[in-house]
Amino acid sequence: MIRIAVIGYGYWGPRIARNFNAADDCKVVTICDKNTSSLNRAGRDFPNVELTSDFNAVIASPGVDAVAVVTPVWTHYALVDAALKNGKHVFVEKPFTSTSAQAEQLIELAERKNLQIMVDHTFLFTGAVQRIRRMVDEGTLGKLYYYDSTRVNLGLFQHDVNVIWDLAPHDLSIVDHLTTNAPQYVTASGQSHLNGLEDLAYITVYFSDQLIAHINVNWLSPVKVRTTLIGGEKKMLVWNDLEADEKLKLYDKGVEIASSQNVYELLVSYRSGDMWAPRVEQTEALAAEAKYFAECVSKDQRPFNDGRAGLRIVRLLEAADKSLKNRGVPVDL
Ligand SMILES: NC(=O)c1ccc[n+]([C@@H]2O[C@H](COP(=O)([O-])OP(=O)(O)OC[C@H]3O[C@@H](n4cnc5c(N)ncnc54)[C@H](O)[C@@H]3O)[C@@H](O)[C@H]2O)c1
Repeated sequence: MIRIAVIGYGYWGPRIARNFNAADDCKVVTICDKNTSSLNRAGRDFPNVELTSDFNAVIASPGVDAVAVVTPVWTHYALVDAALKNGKHVFVEKPFTSTSAQAEQLIELAERKNLQIMVDHTFLFTGAVQRIRRMVDEGTLGKLYYYDSTRVNLGLFQHDVNVIWDLAPHDLSIVDHLTTNAPQYVTASGQSHLNGLEDLAYITVYFSDQLIAHINVNWLSPVKVRTTLIGGEKKMLVWNDLEADEKLKLYDKGVEIASSQNVYELLVSYRSGDMWAPRVEQTEALAAEAKYFAECVSKDQRPFNDGRAGLRIVRLLEAADKSLKNRGVPVDL
């Protein structure tokens, strides 16, 4: 039984606590938040769990095996560092840290102390992403050409990070999970309209082998859109995450160039075949992720969404931010 302390009971913390508590071989024993009204809410939701506002008491407790850090991004480094130094395994929210240097230090510390770090890249545990990954691995889509995502809605405005650090970790972690192609450089543009933090941004990541990813993130959209197009050499896919059924639609569409000897003799043929909707598992992503965390900790096994996966995403976020602050110049990775 892995005994978990959840640190941070704001917007996302209650979901993490509920899923860890429901997972086999896992139990939430403590909830810690600096804010009294958040702690009171935790007490109503979990009457038998210990409540505290003192993080140091949590990490000093021999009754806690692992902590789930569900606090704002700028606090992750210090909390994870202290938890690891006190011998606790760590589940930490995305994005892993505010800088890649911090992520590197935490990875080194965890390895030295033989502790696990898992970064909550939630989408990797959704039925949709798992099905897409299977199609990529089985070669259904063929060589990947592009990943094009729109992730927009009205709010929630964050106080500490811009829209890139808030929303883009989702798409960046998904592309990172789908391809082994190395990211080469990033360009990004965006604008802030209200609180000095960019509220919309357009990010392009150039990978090896001509794979390109474009990500549109926006807190100022009148409607919520969660649509991703993935184009491959053999098939193309539309993923609409807001659809209850038929989230994925696979199109047997494509373009073939028959002759490239002479530009005037190019024979371009368009294939327009069937569409089908692959079945997608409907289980809650965080439930699967909590179960996987308990397994990794008890079997002493490194998760695929470990600190290194978190670091790859932080590097992409840093590069995107740098490009955005410099009028979209390409930033090498
Ligand atoms: N995986 C996802 O899909 C997803 C979704 C939303 C948020 N998140 C991530 O979750 C994290 C938290 O986001 P949120 O929206 O819940 O933030 P929030 O501001 O709503 O809640 C954070 C809570 O942490 C508490 N807190 C801050 N510092 C603390 C400390 N040192 N000790 C104890 N408590 C402390 C605050 O009092 C607050 O109650 C962020 O990293 C965010 O990126 C992930």
